[in-house]
Amino acid sequence: MELPEPPVKFNSTNKQLIRSEWAKPLLAYLHDDLQKKLIYVGLPDTEAHDVKEWLDYLDVVYAFQCRDYPKPSSPDQSRKNVIALENTLRTLERQKLLSTYDVYDGYIEEVLLRGYDNSPTTKEFSQQETVTIYNLDFCGQVTSPIVYKDQKGISRKAFKFNAVDKLLYSQKNVDQANKKFVLFLTLHCSYDGKEFTDFLNNPQDRDIEEYFKNFSGMSKGKKAPYLIKAFVYHQLTRFFTHHFFTPEFLPTIYYKGDNDHPLLFFTVIGTQVENSSALPIPPVKMKNLLNTPIISVKKDGIFAVNEALKLSGDSVKNGDLESLKIFKKTKTFTTFWK
Ligand SMILES: C[S@@+](CC[C@H](N)C(=O)[O-])C[C@H]1O[C@@H](n2cnc3c(N)ncnc32)[C@H](O)[C@@H]1O
Repeated sequence: MELPEPPVKFNSTNKQLIRSEWAKPLLAYLHDDLQKKLIYVGLPDTEAHDVKEWLDYLDVVYAFQCRDYPKPSSPDQSRKNVIALENTLRTLERQKLLSTYDVYDGYIEEVLLRGYDNSPTTKEFSQQETVTIYNLDFCGQVTSPIVYKDQKGISRKAFKFNAVDKLLYSQKNVDQANKKFVLFLTLHCSYDGKEFTDFLNNPQDRDIEEYFKNFSGMSKGKKAPYLIKAFVYHQLTRFFTHHFFTPEFLPTIYYKGDNDHPLLFFTVIGTQVENSSALPIPPVKMKNLLNTPIISVKKDGIFAVNEALKLSGDSVKNGDLESLKIFKKTKTFTTFWK
Protein backbone atom coordinates (compact mmCIF):
# COMPACT_ATOMS: atom_id res chain seq x y z
CA MET A 1 0.00 0.00 0.00
CA GLU A 2 1.34 3.45 -0.91
CA LEU A 3 1.57 5.87 2.00
CA PRO A 4 0.11 9.34 1.49
CA GLU A 5 2.67 12.15 1.11
CA PRO A 6 3.19 14.33 4.20
CA PRO A 7 1.40 17.70 3.98
CA VAL A 8 3.14 20.31 1.88
CA LYS A 9 4.32 23.41 3.76
CA PHE A 10 6.10 25.23 0.91
CA ASN A 11 8.97 25.96 3.24
CA SER A 12 11.76 23.47 2.48
CA THR A 13 15.31 24.42 3.47
CA ASN A 14 16.19 24.90 -0.19
CA LYS A 15 13.22 27.20 -0.71
CA GLN A 16 14.15 29.24 2.35
CA LEU A 17 17.69 29.65 1.02
CA ILE A 18 16.46 30.66 -2.41
CA ARG A 19 14.24 33.34 -0.83
CA SER A 20 16.86 34.67 1.56
CA GLU A 21 20.18 34.20 -0.25
CA TRP A 22 19.25 34.41 -3.93
CA ALA A 23 16.08 36.49 -4.25
CA LYS A 24 16.46 38.94 -1.36
CA PRO A 25 19.72 40.64 -2.51
CA LEU A 26 18.07 41.37 -5.87
CA LEU A 27 15.02 42.85 -4.18
CA ALA A 28 17.20 44.92 -1.88
CA TYR A 29 19.02 46.26 -4.91
CA LEU A 30 15.78 46.99 -6.79
CA HIS A 31 14.39 48.74 -3.72
CA ASP A 32 17.50 50.95 -3.45
CA ASP A 33 17.62 51.62 -7.18
CA LEU A 34 13.95 52.67 -7.33
CA GLN A 35 14.21 54.38 -3.96
CA LYS A 36 10.91 52.95 -2.90
CA LYS A 37 9.38 49.84 -1.48
CA LEU A 38 8.18 47.19 -3.89
CA ILE A 39 4.78 46.12 -5.16
CA TYR A 40 4.36 42.35 -5.10
CA VAL A 41 2.08 40.20 -7.22
CA GLY A 42 2.17 36.47 -6.67
CA LEU A 43 1.14 33.30 -4.92
CA PRO A 44 2.32 33.59 -1.29
CA ASP A 45 0.28 30.68 0.19
CA THR A 46 -1.51 30.96 3.54
CA GLU A 47 1.63 31.61 5.61
CA ALA A 48 3.20 34.02 3.09
CA HIS A 49 6.76 32.96 3.98
CA ASP A 50 8.11 34.81 0.94
CA VAL A 51 6.35 38.07 1.87
CA LYS A 52 7.63 37.80 5.45
CA GLU A 53 11.19 37.16 4.28
CA TRP A 54 11.11 40.19 1.97
CA LEU A 55 9.07 42.53 4.22
CA ASP A 56 11.83 45.13 4.56
CA TYR A 57 11.49 45.81 0.85
CA LEU A 58 7.75 45.38 0.27
CA ASP A 59 4.98 47.93 0.44
CA VAL A 60 1.90 46.38 -1.18
CA VAL A 61 0.95 42.74 -1.83
CA TYR A 62 -1.54 41.52 -4.44
CA ALA A 63 -1.99 37.81 -3.82
CA PHE A 64 -3.83 35.04 -5.65
CA GLN A 65 -4.99 31.95 -3.79
CA CYS A 66 -6.92 29.02 -5.23
CA ARG A 67 -9.22 27.11 -2.90
CA ASP A 68 -8.53 23.43 -3.52
CA TYR A 69 -5.43 22.90 -5.66
CA PRO A 70 -5.43 21.35 -8.28
CA LYS A 71 -9.20 20.97 -8.61
CA PRO A 72 -11.09 23.46 -10.80
CA SER A 73 -12.56 26.30 -8.74
CA SER A 74 -16.10 25.79 -7.57
CA PRO A 75 -18.42 27.75 -5.25
CA ASP A 76 -18.86 24.63 -3.04
CA GLN A 77 -15.18 24.54 -2.08
CA SER A 78 -14.09 25.86 1.29
CA ARG A 79 -12.55 29.37 1.30
CA LYS A 80 -10.34 28.32 4.23
CA ASN A 81 -7.02 28.99 2.46
CA VAL A 82 -8.16 32.30 1.00
CA ILE A 83 -9.30 33.47 4.44
CA ALA A 84 -6.09 32.22 6.08
CA LEU A 85 -4.01 34.23 3.62
CA GLU A 86 -6.19 37.32 4.18
CA ASN A 87 -5.61 36.96 7.92
CA THR A 88 -1.84 36.64 7.47
CA LEU A 89 -1.66 39.76 5.31
CA ARG A 90 -4.10 41.72 7.50
CA THR A 91 -1.86 41.08 10.50
CA LEU A 92 1.14 42.45 8.59
CA GLU A 93 -0.89 45.48 7.55
CA ARG A 94 -2.04 46.14 11.15
CA GLN A 95 1.55 45.91 12.30
CA LYS A 96 2.30 48.54 9.64
CA LEU A 97 4.70 46.18 7.94
CA LEU A 98 2.69 46.45 4.70
CA SER A 99 0.76 49.51 3.66
CA THR A 100 -2.00 47.46 2.05
CA TYR A 101 -2.83 44.13 0.37
CA ASP A 102 -5.52 42.38 -1.64
CA VAL A 103 -6.27 38.68 -2.00
CA TYR A 104 -7.94 37.31 -5.12
CA ASP A 105 -9.89 34.10 -4.66
CA GLY A 106 -9.03 31.66 -7.46
CA TYR A 107 -6.32 30.51 -9.83
CA ILE A 108 -4.29 33.44 -11.08
CA GLU A 109 -4.92 32.19 -14.64
CA GLU A 110 -8.72 32.31 -14.30
CA VAL A 111 -8.81 35.63 -12.45
CA LEU A 112 -6.62 37.35 -15.05
CA LEU A 113 -8.21 35.81 -18.12
CA ARG A 114 -11.82 36.24 -16.98
CA GLY A 115 -11.09 39.57 -15.30
CA TYR A 116 -12.59 38.80 -11.86
CA ASP A 117 -12.17 36.36 -9.00
CA ASN A 118 -14.43 33.83 -7.22
CA SER A 119 -14.95 35.76 -3.98
CA PRO A 120 -18.57 36.38 -2.97
CA THR A 121 -18.16 40.08 -3.82
CA THR A 122 -16.43 39.33 -7.18
CA LYS A 123 -13.21 41.31 -7.23
CA GLU A 124 -11.63 42.59 -10.43
CA PHE A 125 -7.88 42.67 -10.91
CA SER A 126 -6.95 46.07 -12.27
CA GLN A 127 -3.45 47.41 -12.12
CA GLN A 128 -2.76 51.11 -11.43
CA GLU A 129 0.94 51.03 -10.54
CA THR A 130 4.01 49.26 -11.83
CA VAL A 131 4.48 45.87 -10.23
CA THR A 132 8.10 45.54 -9.16
CA ILE A 133 8.18 41.93 -7.98
CA TYR A 134 6.25 38.99 -9.40
CA ASN A 135 6.59 35.75 -7.47
CA LEU A 136 4.81 33.18 -9.63
CA ASP A 137 5.39 30.25 -7.36
CA PHE A 138 3.34 27.63 -9.18
CA CYS A 139 3.18 24.06 -7.94
CA GLY A 140 2.65 22.38 -11.31
CA GLN A 141 4.17 21.82 -14.74
CA VAL A 142 4.71 24.70 -17.12
CA THR A 143 2.16 23.53 -19.68
CA SER A 144 -0.52 22.04 -17.43
CA PRO A 145 -3.66 24.16 -17.80
CA ILE A 146 -6.40 24.89 -15.30
CA VAL A 147 -10.05 24.70 -16.31
CA TYR A 148 -12.40 27.52 -15.37
CA LYS A 149 -15.83 28.88 -16.23
CA ASP A 150 -15.91 32.09 -18.25
CA GLN A 151 -18.49 34.92 -17.86
CA LYS A 152 -21.06 32.87 -19.78
CA GLY A 153 -20.44 29.74 -17.72
CA ILE A 154 -18.57 28.00 -20.55
CA SER A 155 -15.60 25.81 -19.55
CA ARG A 156 -12.27 27.19 -20.74
CA LYS A 157 -8.64 26.22 -20.37
CA ALA A 158 -6.00 28.67 -19.17
CA PHE A 159 -2.26 28.17 -19.13
CA LYS A 160 0.37 29.64 -16.83
CA PHE A 161 1.91 31.59 -19.68
CA ASN A 162 -1.50 33.05 -20.58
CA ALA A 163 -1.41 34.57 -17.09
CA VAL A 164 2.15 35.84 -17.59
CA ASP A 165 1.09 37.41 -20.88
CA LYS A 166 -1.84 39.17 -19.16
CA LEU A 167 0.42 40.42 -16.36
CA LEU A 168 2.93 41.85 -18.82
CA TYR A 169 0.13 43.43 -20.86
CA SER A 170 -1.23 45.18 -17.73
CA GLN A 171 2.28 46.18 -16.74
CA LYS A 172 2.90 47.72 -20.15
CA ASN A 173 -0.31 49.75 -19.92
CA VAL A 174 0.55 51.43 -16.63
CA ASP A 175 1.32 55.03 -17.45
CA GLN A 176 4.87 55.27 -16.14
CA ALA A 177 8.28 55.43 -17.78
CA ASN A 178 11.38 53.25 -17.18
CA LYS A 179 9.63 50.31 -15.59
CA LYS A 180 11.92 47.81 -13.92
CA PHE A 181 10.95 44.62 -12.17
CA VAL A 182 11.98 41.13 -11.14
CA LEU A 183 9.96 38.06 -12.04
CA PHE A 184 10.51 34.79 -10.21
CA LEU A 185 8.88 31.71 -11.65
CA THR A 186 8.82 28.31 -9.96
CA LEU A 187 7.72 25.21 -11.86
CA HIS A 188 7.64 21.49 -11.30
CA CYS A 189 10.57 19.94 -13.15
CA SER A 190 8.60 17.58 -15.37
CA TYR A 191 6.64 17.97 -18.56
CA ASP A 192 3.71 16.54 -20.49
CA GLY A 193 1.11 17.69 -22.96
CA LYS A 194 0.67 18.74 -26.55
CA GLU A 195 2.27 22.21 -26.27
CA PHE A 196 5.45 20.68 -24.97
CA THR A 197 5.52 17.89 -27.54
CA ASP A 198 4.96 20.44 -30.31
CA PHE A 199 7.84 22.51 -28.96
CA LEU A 200 10.14 19.47 -28.83
CA ASN A 201 9.23 18.44 -32.35
CA ASN A 202 9.34 21.92 -33.81
CA PRO A 203 11.11 24.47 -31.59
CA GLN A 204 11.16 27.11 -34.40
CA ASP A 205 14.59 28.27 -33.33
CA ARG A 206 17.80 26.89 -34.80
CA ASP A 207 19.76 27.26 -31.55
CA ILE A 208 17.16 25.32 -29.61
CA GLU A 209 17.03 22.62 -32.28
CA GLU A 210 20.82 22.24 -32.00
CA TYR A 211 20.63 22.24 -28.21
CA PHE A 212 18.07 19.43 -28.23
CA LYS A 213 20.59 17.17 -29.98
CA ASN A 214 22.43 16.91 -26.63
CA PHE A 215 19.54 14.97 -25.14
CA SER A 216 18.57 12.32 -27.67
CA GLY A 217 18.52 8.95 -25.95
CA MET A 218 18.30 10.45 -22.46
CA SER A 219 15.44 9.45 -20.16
CA LYS A 220 12.58 11.90 -19.79
CA GLY A 221 13.38 12.57 -16.13
CA LYS A 222 17.02 13.30 -16.89
CA LYS A 223 16.46 15.69 -19.74
CA ALA A 224 13.50 17.50 -18.15
CA PRO A 225 15.48 20.41 -16.56
CA TYR A 226 17.18 21.28 -19.87
CA LEU A 227 14.07 21.03 -22.00
CA ILE A 228 11.92 23.02 -19.58
CA LYS A 229 14.65 25.64 -19.33
CA ALA A 230 14.67 25.98 -23.13
CA PHE A 231 10.87 26.16 -23.25
CA VAL A 232 10.69 28.83 -20.54
CA TYR A 233 13.50 30.97 -22.00
CA HIS A 234 11.98 30.77 -25.46
CA GLN A 235 8.41 31.54 -24.43
CA LEU A 236 9.20 34.22 -21.86
CA THR A 237 11.49 35.99 -24.32
CA ARG A 238 8.55 36.15 -26.72
CA PHE A 239 6.09 37.44 -24.11
CA PHE A 240 8.50 39.97 -22.66
CA THR A 241 9.62 41.44 -25.96
CA HIS A 242 6.05 41.46 -27.30
CA HIS A 243 5.19 43.91 -24.50
CA PHE A 244 8.43 45.90 -24.95
CA PHE A 245 10.26 44.56 -21.94
CA THR A 246 13.73 43.19 -22.35
CA PRO A 247 14.29 39.96 -20.35
CA GLU A 248 17.57 39.25 -18.59
CA PHE A 249 17.65 35.67 -17.34
CA LEU A 250 19.83 34.85 -14.35
CA PRO A 251 20.86 31.20 -13.95
CA THR A 252 18.08 28.68 -13.42
CA ILE A 253 18.09 26.91 -10.07
CA TYR A 254 17.24 23.23 -9.84
CA TYR A 255 16.24 22.16 -6.34
CA LYS A 256 14.26 19.65 -4.34
CA GLY A 257 11.24 21.08 -2.53
CA ASP A 258 8.75 19.49 -0.14
CA ASN A 259 8.65 15.69 -0.30
CA ASP A 260 11.71 15.83 -2.57
CA HIS A 261 9.76 17.16 -5.54
CA PRO A 262 12.13 18.42 -8.27
CA LEU A 263 11.55 22.11 -9.04
CA LEU A 264 13.02 24.81 -11.24
CA PHE A 265 13.34 28.41 -10.11
CA PHE A 266 13.70 31.06 -12.83
CA THR A 267 14.79 34.67 -12.31
CA VAL A 268 14.04 37.23 -14.99
CA ILE A 269 14.87 40.91 -14.70
CA GLY A 270 12.45 42.97 -16.78
CA THR A 271 13.29 46.40 -18.14
CA GLN A 272 10.99 48.53 -20.23
CA VAL A 273 12.37 49.61 -23.59
CA GLU A 274 11.06 52.27 -25.95
CA ASN A 275 8.05 51.46 -28.04
CA SER A 276 9.04 51.01 -31.67
CA SER A 277 7.85 49.42 -34.89
CA ALA A 278 10.12 46.43 -34.27
CA LEU A 279 10.13 44.25 -31.18
CA PRO A 280 13.24 44.65 -29.00
CA ILE A 281 16.14 42.27 -29.50
CA PRO A 282 16.88 40.21 -26.38
CA PRO A 283 20.19 41.14 -24.70
CA VAL A 284 21.63 37.61 -24.84
CA LYS A 285 21.51 35.29 -27.85
CA MET A 286 19.46 32.13 -27.28
CA LYS A 287 22.52 29.97 -27.93
CA ASN A 288 24.47 31.65 -25.12
CA LEU A 289 21.49 31.59 -22.83
CA LEU A 290 21.04 27.86 -23.30
CA ASN A 291 24.72 27.28 -22.59
CA THR A 292 24.54 28.84 -19.14
CA PRO A 293 24.71 26.00 -16.63
CA ILE A 294 21.86 25.06 -14.31
CA ILE A 295 22.78 25.76 -10.71
CA SER A 296 21.80 24.33 -7.35
CA VAL A 297 21.73 25.38 -3.75
CA LYS A 298 24.08 23.74 -1.30
CA LYS A 299 23.05 23.22 2.31
CA ASP A 300 25.08 26.21 3.51
CA GLY A 301 23.13 28.49 1.19
CA ILE A 302 25.82 28.77 -1.45
CA PHE A 303 24.76 28.56 -5.07
CA ALA A 304 27.01 26.64 -7.42
CA VAL A 305 26.93 24.95 -10.81
CA ASN A 306 25.09 21.65 -10.54
CA GLU A 307 27.79 19.23 -11.65
CA ALA A 308 25.27 16.49 -12.43
CA LEU A 309 23.46 18.83 -14.83
CA LYS A 310 26.53 20.24 -16.54
CA LEU A 311 26.77 19.86 -20.31
CA SER A 312 30.05 19.83 -22.22
CA GLY A 313 29.20 23.11 -24.01
CA ASP A 314 28.21 24.96 -20.83
CA SER A 315 29.94 28.26 -20.23
CA VAL A 316 30.95 27.29 -16.72
CA LYS A 317 32.19 29.86 -14.30
CA ASN A 318 33.90 28.37 -11.32
CA GLY A 319 33.26 29.47 -7.79
CA ASP A 320 30.16 30.45 -5.95
CA LEU A 321 27.40 32.29 -7.66
CA GLU A 322 25.67 35.34 -6.26
CA SER A 323 22.53 36.66 -7.91
CA LEU A 324 23.33 40.35 -7.63
CA LYS A 325 26.94 39.99 -8.76
CA ILE A 326 25.73 38.03 -11.81
CA PHE A 327 23.12 40.66 -12.61
CA LYS A 328 25.66 43.47 -12.35
CA LYS A 329 27.73 41.81 -15.07
CA THR A 330 24.86 41.67 -17.57
CA LYS A 331 24.33 43.83 -20.62
CA THR A 332 20.93 44.87 -19.26
CA PHE A 333 22.56 46.23 -16.14
CA THR A 334 25.24 48.21 -17.94
CA THR A 335 22.81 49.52 -20.58
CA PHE A 336 19.74 50.37 -18.51
CA TRP A 337 20.41 50.10 -14.79
CA LYS A 338 23.86 51.51 -14.09
C1 LIG B 1 4.24 27.08 -3.78
S1 LIG B 1 3.05 27.80 -2.81
C2 LIG B 1 3.64 29.40 -2.52
C3 LIG B 1 4.77 29.52 -1.57
C4 LIG B 1 5.21 30.95 -1.31
N1 LIG B 1 5.40 31.71 -2.53
C5 LIG B 1 6.47 31.00 -0.50
O1 LIG B 1 7.55 31.27 -1.05
O2 LIG B 1 6.38 30.73 0.69
C6 LIG B 1 1.76 28.11 -3.97
C7 LIG B 1 0.43 28.50 -3.31
O3 LIG B 1 -0.44 28.99 -4.31
C8 LIG B 1 -1.50 28.07 -4.57
N2 LIG B 1 -1.53 27.96 -6.03
C9 LIG B 1 -0.89 27.08 -6.82
N3 LIG B 1 -1.11 27.36 -8.12
C10 LIG B 1 -1.92 28.45 -8.13
C11 LIG B 1 -2.48 29.25 -9.16
N4 LIG B 1 -2.25 28.95 -10.43
N5 LIG B 1 -3.24 30.31 -8.81
C12 LIG B 1 -3.48 30.62 -7.51
N6 LIG B 1 -2.99 29.89 -6.49
C13 LIG B 1 -2.20 28.84 -6.80
C14 LIG B 1 -1.15 26.79 -3.87
O4 LIG B 1 -2.31 26.13 -3.44
C15 LIG B 1 -0.32 27.32 -2.70
O5 LIG B 1 -1.14 27.77 -1.67
